[in-house]
Amino acid sequence: MARISVFGIGYVGVVAAACLAKAGHRVTAVDVDQGKIDAVNAGTSPIVEKGLGALVAETVGAGLLSATASVAEAISGSDASFVCVGTPSGPDGAVGLTHVAEVCKAIGGALAAKDSFHSVVLRSTIVPGTCEGTCIPLLEQNSGKTAGEAFGVGYYPEFLREGTAIEDYHDPGLVVFGSLDPVTETLLREINSDMDCAVHAVDLRTAEMVKYTSNSWRAVKVSFANEIGNISKSCGLDGQTVMEILCSDHKVAISPYFMRPGFAFGGSCLPKDIRALRHLAARKGVTTPLLGAVEAANAEQIDRAETLVAEARARRVGLIGVSFKAGTDDLRESPLAELASRLIRSGISVEIYDPFVFEAFAAGHATAGRGNAAVPDLETRLVGNLDTLLERSDAIVVGNLYTDALPSLARAAARTPMIDLTRLDRSLVSGGGYAGICW
Ligand SMILES: NC(=O)c1ccc[n+]([C@@H]2O[C@H](COP(=O)([O-])OP(=O)(O)OC[C@H]3O[C@@H](n4cnc5c(N)ncnc54)[C@H](O)[C@@H]3O)[C@@H](O)[C@H]2O)c1
Repeated sequence: MARISVFGIGYVGVVAAACLAKAGHRVTAVDVDQGKIDAVNAGTSPIVEKGLGALVAETVGAGLLSATASVAEAISGSDASFVCVGTPSGPDGAVGLTHVAEVCKAIGGALAAKDSFHSVVLRSTIVPGTCEGTCIPLLEQNSGKTAGEAFGVGYYPEFLREGTAIEDYHDPGLVVFGSLDPVTETLLREINSDMDCAVHAVDLRTAEMVKYTSNSWRAVKVSFANEIGNISKSCGLDGQTVMEILCSDHKVAISPYFMRPGFAFGGSCLPKDIRALRHLAARKGVTTPLLGAVEAANAEQIDRAETLVAEARARRVGLIGVSFKAGTDDLRESPLAELASRLIRSGISVEIYDPFVFEAFAAGHATAGRGNAAVPDLETRLVGNLDTLLERSDAIVVGNLYTDALPSLARAAARTPMIDLTRLDRSLVSGGGYAGICW
């Protein structure tokens, strides 16, 4: 069992401290608020949270949990510190790092006097780059030691919900942490070894980003449900029933489907149906700011792709895919057709490889090219042979992913600038002649 100091006896810190102590670790909680220190040492919880009072009483009584204001005492008496201090918004919305910085300075100072290895694990919510850009430099400056050598660093965000904090601590939806060194990684793996959920060991910045992604997603879910509730009510419907039915779909609605960063949505359904629902809501006097933002965000993703192509300064662009998604010849409201149209208007010569749209024209389907208002001369721009197209293009834009095309595209990427809207390969990131739309 480890000896752990927990900095910040707030909602996160006191729950973590009591749960770690309950698991058998020897925990010292640290705060600048003497009232909270006294409460813990008296065996009482400084916050109202289901089950916490009993847990604090039990662990303090067992001699596994105590509190102090002394950073030196906490650091010398522990092998790892979990930093759980607040990170309130600054006036401009920026993450407030005052408390985190104070704690890092104080821990760094105490580490200067400590001979053995110590892991410093940030648990406060901090924007990507904070561990590397703020915490590690402060720890190093104040300890005179090197991170990853004399002391370890980790980032291990907390996902608990107040009200069910102890339950969430023991049964989280996910665990993610980043660590600079193997000692800290081993500690975090051990602490989470009994969790019945996915445990992700990643780099520090990815762990920091996952926390913000999780909270943003929670917030989007709340606002989406509220907006659907408002529209439903205006139609005399029960939005809670509507959302419950939606949430029963674990195949598409509540699933990783549609949750992969990439290009804009389009097709014959999503754009038109969002428009229709917003129109209905407006008629009923209900505002739909979230659905409006969805439309704006989608339009911006097309702008973003257009900017990437412009930056390649190509005269002849080979576009891979023009239908609204791979596997179909459906061109209705295809964002790739919109992109092609904008590039053509800007004076770029655009040729297109799309095996499904090509086949529809070649087979003389009556519906060939249906739904395409964006590129009137589409048929003349279609090229049946991918390698021919790749050879005569100054830049390649990959809009749809066709697995048969992957070897040719990989060869072409070595010599021709490529703008990738799908991500041909998970290992690819922007750099050199390759630009991924959001990677
Ligand atoms: N509250 C939640 O449900 C929740 C959930 C997950 C993550 N978080 C994140 O965890 C962090 C802590 O949140 P919280 O709600 O527990 O905050 P809180 O305000 O309840 O507690 C923070 C504690 O840190 C103490 N503190 C401030 N400066 C200190 C210092 N220099 N040394 C020692 N202690 C110091 C404060 O006195 C306070 O007791 C935040 O970054 C928050 O965003 C919160």
